[in-house]
Amino acid sequence: MTHDTTLLNRERNFFTDGETLWLFGYGSLIWKAEFPFHELRPAHIEGWARRFWQGSHDHRGTPAAPGRVATLVESPGAICQGMAYRIDAETLGPLDVREKNGYLRERVMLHFHDGSHAEGLIYLAGEHNAAFLGDAPLDAMARQIATAQGPSGLNCDYLLKLAAALEDLGAQDAHVFALVERVKEIKKRATKK
Ligand code: SIN
Repeated sequence: MTHDTTLLNRERNFFTDGETLWLFGYGSLIWKAEFPFHELRPAHIEGWARRFWQGSHDHRGTPAAPGRVATLVESPGAICQGMAYRIDAETLGPLDVREKNGYLRERVMLHFHDGSHAEGLIYLAGEHNAAFLGDAPLDAMARQIATAQGPSGLNCDYLLKLAAALEDLGAQDAHVFALVERVKEIKKRATKK
């Protein structure tokens, strides 16, 4: 199942052309920043929680066996830590293609560690996009992540690299770290068989 948001995102120009803008990464955009940027700063956003509720049919899974990747869900009081990149507007073109499976550009307020803040962009896969999988029991999500793979590699590598990047940032994320524990147990059991 795909839901290509590339064209929709081209219309979502929230910042004036010619100026740089802040992009907040909370998933693979933290640990796989393969795009040009002027500076990067650890940051957080408020009222959003990171969840492995988005299906990946194009990167970390296939249409027949989708993986699970990160999106954000509204959660009053929650803090989601990640990385902010100051980019040129034209950098969004290739990112729209990378994030095309249901993610839409949305505006959000970014908070930096020095107490300053700035408006920026996130790629958000909302609950109405066609690739949205939503919540499931932790074990079921972990089994899916432990077994799925797609053109960009193993689904579990996405999770483990994100967890490592969050640890480097000193970030808390009970959802991500609980999934890591379960995926490691599943993988360990599988190698013993
Ligand atoms: C993000 O990292 O900010 C968006 C989701 C992803 O590409 O993993």
